[in-house]
Amino acid sequence: MENVMRNFFLFLSRNKILTRSAKKYGLRFGAARFVAGETIEQAVAVIKDLNRKGLKATVDYLGEFVDNEREADKMVNNCIKAIEVIGREKLDSQVSLKLTSMGMDLSNDIVMANMKRIMEKAKENHVFVTIDMEDYERCEKTLRIFKQFRSEYDNIGTVIQAYLFRAIQDMKDLDEYAPSLRLVKGAYKESPQVAFPNKPDVDENYKKIIRMHLLHGHYTAVATHDDAIIEFTKQFVKENEIPNDQFEFQMLYGIRTERQLELAKEGYTMRVYVPYGTDWYGYFMRRLAERPANVSFVLKGMLKK
Ligand code: FDA
Repeated sequence: MENVMRNFFLFLSRNKILTRSAKKYGLRFGAARFVAGETIEQAVAVIKDLNRKGLKATVDYLGEFVDNEREADKMVNNCIKAIEVIGREKLDSQVSLKLTSMGMDLSNDIVMANMKRIMEKAKENHVFVTIDMEDYERCEKTLRIFKQFRSEYDNIGTVIQAYLFRAIQDMKDLDEYAPSLRLVKGAYKESPQVAFPNKPDVDENYKKIIRMHLLHGHYTAVATHDDAIIEFTKQFVKENEIPNDQFEFQMLYGIRTERQLELAKEGYTMRVYVPYGTDWYGYFMRRLAERPANVSFVLKGMLKK
């Protein structure tokens, strides 16, 4: 049943018409639980509150289905606005972005020019940028672009998804770049030809890549809400005397808020992924797919309207 629900929400997440309509109606159906707001001002207020509580942030201006240059330009401008505000207000925050939002599906020239603008602004403001990983179809291209920018900038990282068979090989190929990586289980619907279909296999592969990246001495962001993986990481760093400044935990805004605070209090670096913007629909559907129990929030949200 869980799998049916997961597939259903992932199917909805890819619907262009629903994505476009949702934009017009503001945060609905309980989406405000996972999305910090529609404006940068709202996102900044959330980040300040997190920082006050000892949590770091990474902020993401949401955008799905960017299919023309004007929209990509809008995404870049919003991203730059976020970088400038982080610099100006000295927020303890990084930036996360998706290459499709920066025009990756339009042309190589467009995405490279847009990323260059962003990376220059981020360097000027000492802001770290993480390139989120999207679906399998875009993985190869994303890694190629990451490598190109990593050769020029220190303040850039990307994401490896444990559910992909290629994860370990990708990490080996990235090793010479000494990359700062966010390691996740993976959020998209992928075919069994390219990804582990069963959760225990994903979890095993996740542990493998965490071990590998930490032992290679690279900065590791373990981005999960899964206590078993968090405990595994804590134990592993202790046994291998890996210092606290070589890794961090990351969670999504609105998910396991108490656990985020606990980890920070225990002395671990805890970073919260803070999405904002009007294009919240696809992100929200992927969160529902991860945990159909969250559907109750949707129902409550609908009843309130
Ligand atoms: P899993 O889904 O196995 O959940 C473990 C436990 O955590 C659950 O039993 C539940 O208790 C709790 N939990 C999980 N999800 C919840 C939810 N939605 N609501 C409430 N509780 C929940 N993916 C990707 O493909 N590309 C990317 O770039 C990123 N980036 C990213 C950044 C950050 C900071 C995080 C935390 C995650 C991502 N992800 C991602 C998403 C990731 O791939 C994965 O889909 C989710 O983190 C859910 O998997 P978990 O590791 O949390 O474990």
